[in-house]
Amino acid sequence: MSTIDRARLHELQQREEKRFVLEHPRSAELYARAKNSLLGGVPMNWMKKWAGAFPLFAARAKGAHFTDVDGHEYVDLSLGDTGAMTGHSPDAMVNAIAKRLREGITLMLPTEDSLWVGEELNRRFGLPYWQFALTATDANRFAIRMAREITERPKILVYHYCYHGTVDESFVSLREGVVGPRRGNIGPPVNPAETTRVVEFNDLEALEDALKRQDVAVVLAEPAMTNVGIILPDEGYWKAARELTRQYGTLLIADETHTICAGPGGCTREWKLEPDFVVFGKPIGSGIPGSAYGCTEDVGRRISKRIALEDCDVGGIGGTLAGNALSLAAMRATLEKVLTAEAFETMIPLAKRFNDGVAAEIRKSSLRWNVIQLGARAEYHFSEKPPRNGAQSAASADFELERFLHLYALNRGVLLTPFHNMALMCPATSAADVDLHTQIFAEGAAELAA
Ligand SMILES: Cc1ncc(COP(=O)(O)O)c(C=O)c1O
Repeated sequence: MSTIDRARLHELQQREEKRFVLEHPRSAELYARAKNSLLGGVPMNWMKKWAGAFPLFAARAKGAHFTDVDGHEYVDLSLGDTGAMTGHSPDAMVNAIAKRLREGITLMLPTEDSLWVGEELNRRFGLPYWQFALTATDANRFAIRMAREITERPKILVYHYCYHGTVDESFVSLREGVVGPRRGNIGPPVNPAETTRVVEFNDLEALEDALKRQDVAVVLAEPAMTNVGIILPDEGYWKAARELTRQYGTLLIADETHTICAGPGGCTREWKLEPDFVVFGKPIGSGIPGSAYGCTEDVGRRISKRIALEDCDVGGIGGTLAGNALSLAAMRATLEKVLTAEAFETMIPLAKRFNDGVAAEIRKSSLRWNVIQLGARAEYHFSEKPPRNGAQSAASADFELERFLHLYALNRGVLLTPFHNMALMCPATSAADVDLHTQIFAEGAAELAA
């Protein structure tokens, strides 16, 4: 826990809240109106959770910046929680989809773009066979179903405090060794203890214990955890974990939806991982809905044997709009022209600049915090040492403090990823954007310590 003077924090929070309300009259007005037609006044329930009395209403966004309806401009370090890691509306993608919009959006027929994308994903991740969906959630769900089908096993395994989208099996927690529904889980279909085993990240013994019973079809994992702050794997963790999964006949899904920040082929390529499936959603189409899941030769062969042609439209994998022409055109343009190897060469050094700037300010202050970088993203935690697992990271979370720092940054023109302290770089982010955040972070830290 942080040793923050709470009275001081509350005083600063009130001051920032007043400023926020005063400077955003149009957002306030739209929010008041929205309460009459949108449940909770927002189009999506977690939009209520932004720091401040109401969410900002966005007017337009381009590259690394956006403007709100009150005319304020912001540096966007959240980038749609990775959906806009490409930068907002990159020209190459916009041009490609404008053409596709005129030429047909969805047909239930393949377009040539789909094979270009499949071939490119093969080159990046080293997996031969690909399928498409509209969200990373669905890609995870479909990969899980395939894994269950070919292993004929009922359960999956996830890490404590993981997030893989709205996959029912993954809303699970671990309390004193007991598996149960995760706090806040709305309407779980069954107790997730029936479907899921949960272990802490970086604990090989617990992983082996959970796999030993040989009823786990697949481990669904981010190669580095990113949704409870960044948690890096211990040296050698994935090599040993992969050996365990193979020993006990369990498959492995690498959900690279966020860890694509590590490079063009995500952590799978950077760290030479050998998953059975890779999932990649969100930025794959620069924010145009689309996702992909790929599998190995072996998985491809095993699943193909079990899909009967007559039943393949009702097997629980797919979706009418999955693999549509527009989605594939966006993916092709994104992979060919936006999220390229060259783009990572500018994004990753910028994340280092963010990391080093924040680390230097932490050292100068009395705060015992740390900051971690993973490729093009970086994140600070309110603990002295980087966490090694979800429980440690969650224990250092501080809702009040986080809200204050987010609101402080927002009032000064910087949007951080909500619900934790992450900053992501896109190809259009500049050093000046990063330095603006560092300066604001330093001022906020100084005010807290005063
Ligand atoms: C690692 C990971 N996988 C999957 C998802 C789900 O993505 P979507 O909401 O686009 O389905 C998320 C969303 O945050 C995620 O962080």
